[in-house]
Amino acid sequence: MGLAVLVLAAGEGTRMKSSRPKVLHTICGEPMIHFVLKSVRSLNPERTIVIVGHRADEVKAALEGVDFALQEEQLGTGHAVSTVEDMLADFVGTVIVLSGDTPLLSAETLQRMLDIHTSNEAAATLLTARMNNPTGYGRIIRSSTGAVQAIVEQKEATDEQKAIAEVNSGTYCFDKEKLFEALKGIDSNNQQGEFYLTDAIKVLSDGGGTIMACLADEPEETMGVNTRVQLAEADRIMRGRINEKLMLAGVTLIDPTTTFIADSVTIGRDTVIYPMTFISGDTKIGENCIIGPASRLVDCLVGNAVVIESSVVKESVIEDSAELGPFCHVRPGTLVKTGAKVGGFVEVKKSEIGRGSKVPHLSYIGDTHIGDYVNIGAGSITCNYDGANKYQTVIEDGAFVGSDTMLVAPVRIGKGAFTAAGSVITKDVPADSLAVERSDQTIINDWAKKRRQRKDISES
Ligand code: UD1
Ligand code: CA
Repeated sequence: MGLAVLVLAAGEGTRMKSSRPKVLHTICGEPMIHFVLKSVRSLNPERTIVIVGHRADEVKAALEGVDFALQEEQLGTGHAVSTVEDMLADFVGTVIVLSGDTPLLSAETLQRMLDIHTSNEAAATLLTARMNNPTGYGRIIRSSTGAVQAIVEQKEATDEQKAIAEVNSGTYCFDKEKLFEALKGIDSNNQQGEFYLTDAIKVLSDGGGTIMACLADEPEETMGVNTRVQLAEADRIMRGRINEKLMLAGVTLIDPTTTFIADSVTIGRDTVIYPMTFISGDTKIGENCIIGPASRLVDCLVGNAVVIESSVVKESVIEDSAELGPFCHVRPGTLVKTGAKVGGFVEVKKSEIGRGSKVPHLSYIGDTHIGDYVNIGAGSITCNYDGANKYQTVIEDGAFVGSDTMLVAPVRIGKGAFTAAGSVITKDVPADSLAVERSDQTIINDWAKKRRQRKDISES
C-alpha cells in the first residue's frame, strides 16, 4: 500500500507576530519544518507534498526533495488538504497529514501511528496526547465505549469539552479515498470561518468509519509551535535531545543546559564542550578537543585535540592540535594548520596559517598565506585593503615578523627573513634578510631631569 505525506505549511502564523513564515522560524538553528521532514523521510513515503501559501516562495526556497502544492487563500486546514486532491488523483493508499509547526514529532511515533492505522484498516487514525494544559488544542471527543467521535476546536468547545485533557496533535493517517470524500462534507460555519480538517473526523465517524487514536508516550512530542513562547520551549526540548545523543556518544558537555549545538553537527569522543558555546551549521569536530567556554563555531571542520577558548570561528578549517583564543575571531576561508596557534585578540580572515606557526597576540591577518613555523610578533597586522581593493600578503616558512610590523600588501616576506619591530614593510623582503623600516632613535641627555626642574611643572 502506498504512503503519501502532506505537510501543512501555508498558514501565516499570526500568533508569532512575525514577517517570517512560521515554519521557517528556527529551533536549534534550523527551520522547524526541517525537523518535521526529517521524521517524515524515515517513513520512506512515495510522495511528500508540502502545502504552501503565505510567503510560499520563501518556504519553497528553504526545502529540498519535496513537492509543493499552493493553497492561495488560507481558508483552514481542511481546505489546505483539499488543494492536493488533484495531485493525488492516481495515488492509492494511506495519507499522513501533519503540520510544519510540530517539530518535536519523532519518526518512531509516526511509525507507531501508521502501524495502528494499517492493522485496524481504519478510515482515520489520530495521534493524540494528554496535556496538563490542553488550552489551544482541539479536544478528542470519545463515546461511552471509548471510540473517537469527533475533534472539537478550542474556540468551539463548551466548558465541559475544554476540561478534556486528550488533545489532537494535528497529525493523522487517512485512507485517501475516504479523506477527500469526507472533506466534501465539511463547512466553515464556525468561530473562525475556516474549513477545519478536524471536522472530517466527525464526518468519517458519523459515516460508520473506524477512527483509531494513537496516544503519544511523550506529550511534548506533539507540541505545536504557535507563539514565540512555544518556540523557545521547543528549542529547549530539541536541544536536550541533541545534547543527550552527543553525551551518550562520548562527548562531555559540562553544562548541557547552556550548550547550544545544532542537529547537523558531529563531535568526536572525549571532546569537552564548556558552557555558553554555540556550534551550528555543517560543523564537524574531532576527538579530544576542548571547545569553549563562550565560543561560537559555524560551518567549521575541526580536527583532533584542538583547543578553542572564548572565540568565534566561521567557515574555516582548524587542523589537529591547533590552539585558538582566548578571544580570537577566525573569519570565513581560513585554514589553521596542524599545531598552529591563533591567540588572544587576533582576527584572521581568508588566510592560511602554516604548521606550527604562531600569531599569538593582538594581530589582524587578512588575505595572507603564512608558511610553516612562522612567528608573528604582538600587534603586527596586514594592511590588506587600500579602500578599493584587497591585496595578498605572503610570509614564507620560518620567517619572524617583529612586533607591531605593518605589512602593506601586496608584499612578501621571504623564507627565514626577519622584520624589525615597528617597521612598515612596503617592499618584498628577501629570504634570510632583515628588514628595518624606522628612523634612528635620538637621545637627548638630561631632558627629563630639566623638565622636572622647570617651576611650572614641578608645582603641578
Ligand atoms: C490545529 C488543529 C488542532 C490541533 C492543533 C495541533 C485544526 C482546525 N486544528 O490547530 O485541532 O490541536 O493543530 O497543533 O486543524 N495551515 C495551512 N492552511 C490553512 C491553515 C493552516 O496550511 O489555511 C497550516 C499552518 O501553516 C500550520 C498547520 O496548518 O502549519 C496548523 O494550523 P494552525 O493554525 O497552527 O492550527 P492550530 O490552531 O494549531
Ligand atoms: Ca498549530
